[in-house]
Amino acid sequence: MGNETNGFTLWFTGLSGAGKSTIAEIVGPELERRGILVDHLDGDVVRTNLSKGLGFSREDRDANILRIGFVAKLLTRHGAGVIVAAISPYAETRDAVREMIGDRFVEVFVATSLDECARRDVKGLYAKAFSGEIKEFTGVSDPYEAPEHAEIVVETEGRSPEQSAQHVITQLEQLGFIAREKEEAVA
Ligand code: ADX
Repeated sequence: MGNETNGFTLWFTGLSGAGKSTIAEIVGPELERRGILVDHLDGDVVRTNLSKGLGFSREDRDANILRIGFVAKLLTRHGAGVIVAAISPYAETRDAVREMIGDRFVEVFVATSLDECARRDVKGLYAKAFSGEIKEFTGVSDPYEAPEHAEIVVETEGRSPEQSAQHVITQLEQLGFIAREKEEAVA
């Protein structure tokens, strides 16, 4: 993608229950407040429409991620701030999306540990994964390849979702994707 766009894709990756969607839902309105046109592509939602019928084999997860990446690329080209929240467990597939979107791709690793995700178990899925009721569950019986060079890393443990979201915003400012808000003048 050329550098003629101000759009960007903020790609949240991490385990199920890491806090990707929760943080994304706070970051979105803050970007809108700053005048950015925001679109959300959330794995759980995309799987009810664009990726309906796909399961959790590597092939299906890759298809899901490449579809999301394709849409994110189009929206980014038109100047949107695209916020993706999907486990996206395979490094190679995330890198394929990075390749498609180029230097407007911002990978955000929500680095919540498996222990913490399982302890929170917001959707009750970890209990089922550990008992074997759900197969191929990311982090339990299926791989998660943590990013090694994410632009932004969010440590959620000991931080509120608001603090995590603020960290993302500050990093976006520092990376030059959004304008810094003027500091209040000190008298
Ligand atoms: S991805 O691997 O293709 O990126 P995606 O983010 O769209 O996954 O969907 C993950 C969500 O699907 C989880 O948050 C969880 O609610 C649900 N889910 C159901 N089965 C699984 C599974 N086997 N592994 C991971 N998530 C699952």
